[in-house]
Amino acid sequence: MSTGLDMDPGPKPPSTAPDQFYTGLVAELYDPLAGYRARADEYAPFLDRSGTPALELCCGSGRPLLELRERGYDVDGLDASRDMLDRCRADASTRGLEVTLYEATMQSFALPRRYRAIFLAGGSFMLLPSDEDAARTLRCMHDHLMPGGAVMIPVPAHPERRPATNHGPEGPPWHTTESGDRVRCFGVASHPSADGRAVTERLRYERIPAHGPPEVLERDFHLRYWSQDAFRELLLGAGFADFRFRDPRGGPARPDLPMFVVLARK
Ligand SMILES: C[S@@+](CC[C@H](N)C(=O)[O-])C[C@H]1O[C@@H](n2cnc3c(N)ncnc32)[C@H](O)[C@@H]1O
Repeated sequence: MSTGLDMDPGPKPPSTAPDQFYTGLVAELYDPLAGYRARADEYAPFLDRSGTPALELCCGSGRPLLELRERGYDVDGLDASRDMLDRCRADASTRGLEVTLYEATMQSFALPRRYRAIFLAGGSFMLLPSDEDAARTLRCMHDHLMPGGAVMIPVPAHPERRPATNHGPEGPPWHTTESGDRVRCFGVASHPSADGRAVTERLRYERIPAHGPPEVLERDFHLRYWSQDAFRELLLGAGFADFRFRDPRGGPARPDLPMFVVLARK
């Protein structure tokens, strides 16, 4: 695809580990380009029901973690990317908030605290590359819950059918950041897995800084999906016997929903 710009990403870099996708330029552009930001209102009712302390897995640069901290909820954050956690820490400091953050993968964390509530925001569970990774994540969550503690996990069930976008030779529109940089991200290729349960998208990140040379980075983004039946097996295997699936907008989850919310209790 020609974007009309002379920016050569150079030789294809080695594929990044899925839990280190959000590093470097990708982490820097996450906030300016994020289409969806999780809001505290979506998670506060779960914390009100389950109690605190709570833990947000994949907290990234801090949505909804910091808004929840602002409202006085005792919530810790965990993420595998040091760059995203640095951004979260900087934002917390700007807002005058104290927050405990752990750098670890959700598949293999061992923390000093036990929680009444553990949750993920948005669709970050789909960043887990395999069923084994998902099983390990649920076991870690179970191990870190107090008796009677609860988890909340939004689970993408199948890839969204996004219409192909033809941006023309100039590529997609640019976004201008507060510091005057022009930035954008767009998919250049998409490869579904043979079983239809995973997709690898090649994403291209571009930044034209207000000062300095343009930057370009291409990176593979791996996404995996779980049906309600597959997730039921994972939950039972991790020791959760008390669970239900909900429609994100409320009510029971129909099996054909693109995303369902898992509520499970230890
Ligand atoms: C969509 S982003 C951040 C979402 C966050 N709610 C926000 O808006 O700031 C997903 C995050 O998951 C983290 N992540 C991906 N795989 C992970 C893993 N296996 N363990 C822990 N964190 C992971 C990434 O580093 C990234 O910060």
